Amino acid sequence: MIDDATWAALERAARDVQQRAWAPYSQFRVGAAVLTEDGQIFAGCNVENASYGATICAERTAVGSAVAAGHTRLVACVVVGPLADAITPCGICRQVLSEFGPDMPVRCVAELDLNARLDTTIPELLPGAFSGVYLRR
Ligand code: THU
Repeated sequence: MIDDATWAALERAARDVQQRAWAPYSQFRVGAAVLTEDGQIFAGCNVENASYGATICAERTAVGSAVAAGHTRLVACVVVGPLADAITPCGICRQVLSEFGPDMPVRCVAELDLNARLDTTIPELLPGAFSGVYLRR
């Protein structure tokens, strides 16, 4: 179970990093923060590119940052989108989050409404996920 203070710290990190999003093409700024099993928080924003397909979502930036620091077990994620409603991770990000936190809770919050919140999980967002288990058979 993730306690309220930890959820608040994750949300703070996601909201802070959202301000650094590089989103000159969509103006759609996203922030994400992931919690490692030993209690560290890593944050990421979306990083767009003039070659649009090269864009990286906030969730994948956060995961990459955690993995680059040596953390491959994630236990929670918060995503903040720029709207008044919560946004949920895209399909590719669901798959990438699932690699490192297959059972983790995901909290989706809204920049413009501090009370808008969707609490979900990776299994709920990505039922029947493909995983490395299949590759080892
Ligand atoms: N985006 C994210 O960073 N995370 C999501 O969950 C959805 C979409 C970004 C990608 C792109 O820079 C912009 O939002 C519009 O799709």
